[in-house]
Amino acid sequence: MKNRKKLVVLTGAGMSVESGLSTFRGSGGMWGQHRVEDVATIDAWYKDPEKVLDFYNIRRKELSGVYPNDGHIVLATLEEDFDVEIITQNVDNLHEKAGSTHITHLHGELMKVRSTGPGAEVFELTPENLEIKLGDKCPKGYQLRPHIVWFGEAVSEMNKAINITEKADVFLVIGTSLNVYPAAGLLNYVLSGVPVYLIDPNEVNVNGKNITVIKKGAGEGMKEFKEMLKILK
Ligand code: APR
Repeated sequence: MKNRKKLVVLTGAGMSVESGLSTFRGSGGMWGQHRVEDVATIDAWYKDPEKVLDFYNIRRKELSGVYPNDGHIVLATLEEDFDVEIITQNVDNLHEKAGSTHITHLHGELMKVRSTGPGAEVFELTPENLEIKLGDKCPKGYQLRPHIVWFGEAVSEMNKAINITEKADVFLVIGTSLNVYPAAGLLNYVLSGVPVYLIDPNEVNVNGKNITVIKKGAGEGMKEFKEMLKILK
């Protein structure tokens, strides 16, 4: 097999906008409609677990009618020529549905739940069974919770993401405002000299880093990026 270049891609909520999902910040963003402190922090879970479960039950139902967009699909096709590693902040499963095979979910996965007991065993939900309620327990008798990294919790996949980032030959950022750490700090682990690209229709603050910006949405932006990659192959 030929020695393929490693393309590492960091994605955020903007990746899934053209599939019909909301971003978190900016106009129409999720955090304009719900208070983070009520539904997405570890303290919210202790204070009002029912409210938190309901929030994620609704998100899960929304996801069941949502499909990958051109951005996800073009990105999946890049595996034909590159060793592609996706590091996503998204909890949706649209990269998987598009056919990408190496995906690290930094902030968890909506379609999974886990035990609040020792070992935090993870279970996959099925499309027929999208809700968890207070009283829904794992086989060992512990309450189930969303498999989501809430504010105030450790990002357990971060070290893996850093290792992947350090090996990138090309690094691409798509659809993230780079506001949330530690994910946003991954850019600092890209080795010097590695070309970095960013696809976003809006301005993103990248602190003077040398980045080639493609100021487009994920679908159009990915098509343009794929053309640019031909010279790097
Ligand atoms: N294509 C690509 N990017 C887009 C599109 C589009 N069609 N539409 C909007 N965007 C961009 C916005 O311009 C913005 O830069 O997507 C980005 C979304 O930013 P955020 O809403 O801040 O989402 P994200 O960066 O993924 O948030 C990080 O915050 O609350 C948490 O856990 C949540 O994982 C999330 C984290």
